[in-house]
Amino acid sequence: MQFKSVNTSFDRIKTPCLVVGLFQKARPDTTFTTLDALTDGWLAKQVKRGDIDGSKGQTLYLYDPPGLKAERLLLIGCGESTAFDERAYIEANRSAARALNAGGAKQAVSTLPALEVKQRDADWKVAQAVLATEYALYSFDEFKSDASSKAPVKRLDLWHTESLAEGTLEQACATAHGVAFARDLANRPGNICNPTYLAKQAKALKKRFDSIDVDVLDEADMEKLGMGAFLAVSRGSEQPGKLIVMHYRGGDKNAKPVALVGKGITFDTGGISLKPGAQMDEMKFDMGGAASVFGTLAACAEFKLPLNVVAVVAAAENMPDGRASRPGDIAKTLSGQTVEILNTDAEGRLVLCDALTYVERFEPRAVVDMATLTGACIVALGHEVSAVLGNNAPLIEALKQAGQESFDRIWELPLLDEYNELLKSNFADMANIGGRAAGTITAASFLSRFAKNFHWAHLDIAGTAWVSGDKKGATGRPVPLLVKYLVRCAADASA
Ligand code: BES
Ligand code: MN
Ligand code: ZN
Repeated sequence: MQFKSVNTSFDRIKTPCLVVGLFQKARPDTTFTTLDALTDGWLAKQVKRGDIDGSKGQTLYLYDPPGLKAERLLLIGCGESTAFDERAYIEANRSAARALNAGGAKQAVSTLPALEVKQRDADWKVAQAVLATEYALYSFDEFKSDASSKAPVKRLDLWHTESLAEGTLEQACATAHGVAFARDLANRPGNICNPTYLAKQAKALKKRFDSIDVDVLDEADMEKLGMGAFLAVSRGSEQPGKLIVMHYRGGDKNAKPVALVGKGITFDTGGISLKPGAQMDEMKFDMGGAASVFGTLAACAEFKLPLNVVAVVAAAENMPDGRASRPGDIAKTLSGQTVEILNTDAEGRLVLCDALTYVERFEPRAVVDMATLTGACIVALGHEVSAVLGNNAPLIEALKQAGQESFDRIWELPLLDEYNELLKSNFADMANIGGRAAGTITAASFLSRFAKNFHWAHLDIAGTAWVSGDKKGATGRPVPLLVKYLVRCAADASA
């Protein structure tokens, strides 16, 4: 899909379809009243016929509006104008995209960005229109024999009045592509998207972008380095684990990179501590953190963000093979600390702890890891916000801000010393689980022991990386947050 920003006067817009927001309770906004005047009252008359009242989710096509050069109007119910917030705005754009997709217009002009959203400027509205449209039009049908998902709209012009900051549209498009890329990777099943497959994806990125370099460590390399925690997980699978290291070089040669670390468990059976069967298929999404790292890096490269980023994906499959770790096994991590593996289903932290130690060598200015780490995170926060925990308040603040701006929101949980005691082991330096209480925090506490030498934050995306139910599929979160955060890093060397 191509996007353009436009502000031609309404009577001169020549388009197959003009998208117009409609508020409930006859509280039309200026777009509506202007159009109504141009059509000499025809528009309001059509609405009065009663097929649409402006409720959220409603859509209605109207044809051949008099006085306009648009072939049709697409009315989008926006709910009550007083309650028209960010969520309603995004929903309106998504429902417009779905209605366009169901219709036949190949090009459209959307006036939704001209609607007023409290405290949000044109840049935000245009960027979110791009993200919402691409999000709604996304489909994953690689494995369907009758892949029929059509996307007739090839170009959407976004109509707004204020002028945009430079690069707004490019950044939004790159972010949307990054989200779609992350969704594709995460939606692919475990029998295809395994660690070797992810390594190949990294090499494909290197081919696509001169600014990206790739280095893949195999199990022998990791053995030599002493990444015993990672190997304790990957050993249990026929599929060899990979530590995928990608360098995006968009900044000064000597500028310290921001490090992104992604949990890339391409399937999580739980290992010997086998998971129950219900919904186990969804554990193909356990590489959602890794997928977001790929998507974010591709986005940075696409819009040439002036920043250095090192991205590390800890890719392994957690399986109960003959060589799998047993509960009680003790692994020696790359950091030298030992871990008693009391539960082989707490595998994410095992692969991540070695990846965190590994990134130290790049002297990162900040490290952010993304992981579908704990079911407890879903209990605590549900599916709306991701959890953030870390050891540096300004970094956490910057991530929260980025989450707010991108509407890919996060909520902080307390990483207090007290929780650390829950990880005590009788036999090793620590256990890999902390009991039933505060599961998201004890998981982060575990990671914090490997993040002592840098500014670090951890995003637990267990509840946000995918949705279950009849719309089951990856969301591409937190790519929008990460891109925003990195944009901020590029603009502000101290962020
Ligand atoms: N990948 C899971 C976490 C998860 C579960 C994410 C369900 C989303 C939905 C992780 O590897 C895991 O199994 N965590 C365990 C940790 C426990 C053994 C301490 C969990 O959350 O049950
Ligand atoms: Mn697990
Ligand atoms: Zn897992």
